[in-house]
Amino acid sequence: MCGIFGFVSKEKINATPVIIDGLKRLEYRGYDSAGLALMTGRGIFCRKKAGRIFELEKVVGNNIESNIGIGQSRWATHGKPSDKNAHPHFSCDKKIYLVHNGIIENFKELRVKLEKRGHVFRSDTDTEVAAHLIEDFSKSYSFEEAVRLALKSIVGTYAFVIVNADNPTTMIVARNSSPLLVGLSDTHKFVASDASAILPHTRKVVYLHDGEFAILTPSDFRIATLDRKAVSRDQELIEWSQDEVKKNKFPHFMLKEIYEEPDAVENAIRGRLIVKDGLAKLGGLELVEDKIKRLNRVIISACGTAYLAGLTGEYMLEEYGEIPVEVEYASELRYKKQKFDARTALLSISQSGETADTLGALKEAKRKGALNLGLVNVVGSSIAREVDAGVYNHAGPEIGVASTKAFVSQLAVLSLLALFIGRQRDMSLVIGRRIASELSVLPDKMKRVLKEAPNIKKIARKYHKYDHFLYLGRKYNYPVALEGALKLKEVSYIHAEGYGAGEMKHGPIAMIDKNFPSMVIIPSDSMREKVLSNIQEIKARDGKVVAIATEGNKEISKIADDVIYIPKTLEMLTPMLSVMPLHLFAYYVGVMRGYDVDHPRNLAKAVSVE
Ligand code: G6P
Repeated sequence: MCGIFGFVSKEKINATPVIIDGLKRLEYRGYDSAGLALMTGRGIFCRKKAGRIFELEKVVGNNIESNIGIGQSRWATHGKPSDKNAHPHFSCDKKIYLVHNGIIENFKELRVKLEKRGHVFRSDTDTEVAAHLIEDFSKSYSFEEAVRLALKSIVGTYAFVIVNADNPTTMIVARNSSPLLVGLSDTHKFVASDASAILPHTRKVVYLHDGEFAILTPSDFRIATLDRKAVSRDQELIEWSQDEVKKNKFPHFMLKEIYEEPDAVENAIRGRLIVKDGLAKLGGLELVEDKIKRLNRVIISACGTAYLAGLTGEYMLEEYGEIPVEVEYASELRYKKQKFDARTALLSISQSGETADTLGALKEAKRKGALNLGLVNVVGSSIAREVDAGVYNHAGPEIGVASTKAFVSQLAVLSLLALFIGRQRDMSLVIGRRIASELSVLPDKMKRVLKEAPNIKKIARKYHKYDHFLYLGRKYNYPVALEGALKLKEVSYIHAEGYGAGEMKHGPIAMIDKNFPSMVIIPSDSMREKVLSNIQEIKARDGKVVAIATEGNKEISKIADDVIYIPKTLEMLTPMLSVMPLHLFAYYVGVMRGYDVDHPRNLAKAVSVE
């Protein structure tokens, strides 16, 4: 939700390509408008443009020398996407320029006060008040003190990057509940919403914490709290490689990331399975192992696709972990009267580790005494730092806005967790070994599903003009049906509904006719006969059916209109196979309908607003 970027360098450099490249790498966080500001010998050069970053690129030129610059790619919250609402925003005297990610909740009252003091606003955004506020304090204080006082007056969430023409070698950055990191190289310093933007320059980073601000100059970098306490923080090394954040031979990140699904599962389970003992080894949970033994309830909290991974995890943990589980949208959980205690664990699942609602629900549970566990992809993210213990899913950077590889890797970790908790309880060695050994060969089976891509593309071609779809599955594959429908909606804007196949009779069946096809997940497991009956019910009403079935199920090809086969595995692990054709199907349909699947309209990758 908004990507922000900035650099400070010892020498003047050709600055626009650096900022534009940084913004392009963050574009998945928001892409309705963009802008930049550069410190030049003749004051600050600023350009802002509605639309994608290439629109900004057209108006900035390519030869502006500067040693300090900031930029932002926006996802609108307050004020429509337009040139004037694009960041950077600036003070009346056009000396203070800033970019922001987050929401200033008290912007209205601040704006009224500042207008009374003569400030003239040029945009409809919440952000602009920050520039005027700093300008106001600057009349009596230094740049640094003016920023600090302004931040203390602001209520809300933010990552800010601020420059001031009167202090042409200083950049000030600050963070409260929106991500921000500083990258350090011998000649440059960078700031960005996430690591993918600074990887071409350096892998050495320092993460800022909430309530901190940092002062960057060509020769210096220091962090302080808003109460003026100096902070010393070690550098960390980013593990992601540059290649991981490039499309390479793929036309879209979404397709690349679907093709990375087998690797994502491989990376999630690497070093975490002891097959001969039927055990899962989760280092991040070692410190709280005894507390986990005593748990009598798990609440899973997440949003979007991570929530659907949580729903699948509910089946896994209840069946094999032998523990009652509730799954909640984080955006609802945080406002519910929930009872948390030391025997309740809150498991927050988040790819980005920055989703505002998931973080909010976690903070609430923390206050009430729950054991807070995390399943997070981005190392060092807010949720990862806030939990008591957790497991990283190590899916690598996910750039496509619609989550794909992160989903399967979340499922892999949830199945490890079911094994981990199950073996603490009554799960037998035999069952433990079966799960561990099947999980260890799952990435190879996932690679076999990718071989079905040409068939899936053909099926997508046949169905891409339909305007409605029903997705059905049962038990472990019920959440997969929801995920398939969500993905189709996200990247192709087609109306798609996901349902538990058994529920079809209680409503959705009324919509079935020859123009309303169904994608039905029917693996050869405990649910096969029941789902088969549901398919018959659809066929009896002239509905078309695309079945996702287990290899060897010949009977299905006589009933369904089209079939996509997946390999056989344990029922609990099937979702990691069955979701792959649905991801590919959504991808192909989105592309065939002419959409930019990596940048679906109105969506953003990391939703840092509530
Ligand atoms: C947004 C993204 C989804 C993602 C959800 C939760 O809606 O577009 O792809 O599943 O946020 O994000 P998180 O980073 O918490 O997993």
